[in-house]
Amino acid sequence: MGLFDSFKRQANRFHTETDPEQSVTSSAIDSRDEEAAATPLQDAPRDEDAREEEGNSSADERETVVSRETSDEEETAQSAADMYVATPIKSYAEKKPVKHVVGTTKVIAILNQKGGVGKSTTAIDLGAALGELGKQVLLIDLDPQGNTSSGLGIEKNRLDQCIYDVLLGEASLTDVIIPDVCEGLDVAPATINLAGAEVELVAEMARENRLKEATGAVRGRYDYVFIDCPPSLGLLTINALVAADKLLIPIQCEFYALEGVTKLLDSMKRVKTHLNPSLDIFGVLLTMYDGRTTLSKQVASEVRNFFAKRVFDVVIPRSVKISEAPSFGQPITQYDPTGKGAEAYRALAKEVISRG
Ligand SMILES: Nc1ncnc2c1ncn2[C@@H]1O[C@H](COP(=O)(O)OP(=O)(O)OP(=O)(O)O)[C@@H](O)[C@H]1O
Ligand SMILES: [Mg+2]
Repeated sequence: MGLFDSFKRQANRFHTETDPEQSVTSSAIDSRDEEAAATPLQDAPRDEDAREEEGNSSADERETVVSRETSDEEETAQSAADMYVATPIKSYAEKKPVKHVVGTTKVIAILNQKGGVGKSTTAIDLGAALGELGKQVLLIDLDPQGNTSSGLGIEKNRLDQCIYDVLLGEASLTDVIIPDVCEGLDVAPATINLAGAEVELVAEMARENRLKEATGAVRGRYDYVFIDCPPSLGLLTINALVAADKLLIPIQCEFYALEGVTKLLDSMKRVKTHLNPSLDIFGVLLTMYDGRTTLSKQVASEVRNFFAKRVFDVVIPRSVKISEAPSFGQPITQYDPTGKGAEAYRALAKEVISRG
């Protein structure tokens, strides 16, 4: 009998002796986990209530509560699944008639090659706020991440075609547009297929002009076309720069906010010189502003010094509701209609309209 066997024997004895204790502890933990799983959003306030209740109620009573909550959840999940099957994806031919006369269409690319600065959020929430004000808006999702599409509740895996097919010349823009996703708001969605476009377009003729040709066909049908760009300056972004009349540059109020902006402006100038002479900045938008921090104030004043009047007066505040809205497939104007985020994007929509 070696050292290893003696260790095994000791280990076995230890487990046998401690098993009863352990099983009590683990079953207590398991039942707490079940309760927590049944009420995931009420953890913190419920903990104290639950402890008080535990003193008064028996374990059997608690078990009944857990199983009832679980079956409620199952029912909700089942009815959600039923709704999912029942909702067909609309085609452009089913679009509600536009009641007003659309004047000049403004094509605006929402661009900053820095990631996570609020491009997609602004595309969705500004688009929805303009729609609420009676404007006709098209959002073109030009990012393979497809955040604008999923943030509006579009299930990308159910789509046969997306903006990728348009860029490759295999569909027209109206073939892929999903109309009236919200009031006045249509979406040309993106799926992960779009990730291949950067490579596949390289071999194509007039590859920088693909989106310009596509948007040309819908000019006169929308007041605003917003293009949500990916966080890079590759061929997809160049397509957006060629197609756009103007740029909207969101800048997050954080350290290094202006990092990379010079590169972005260089790209804009290059496209302006060679491909799109009228391209210009429409506005610079300060996002995720937190008025309680000196950093936000410093960044805001630095950006205003750099871009002067091009910066929108309206500043988008940092708001948990804004960040939650996409997971409910809704713009902030629907998810939290009276909150500060919705108010800010509505005010921005008015400023956008006033800029012509
Ligand atoms: N005003 C805000 N307050 C709080 N969170 C925000 C706000 N705006 C955006 N966010 C959150 O910040 C994250 C990045 O936003 P968003 O996806 O709009 O940025 P992006 O520039 O489109 O990113 P990417 O470069 O990856 O495309 C998201 O989780 C979003 O919900
Ligand atoms: Mg994005």
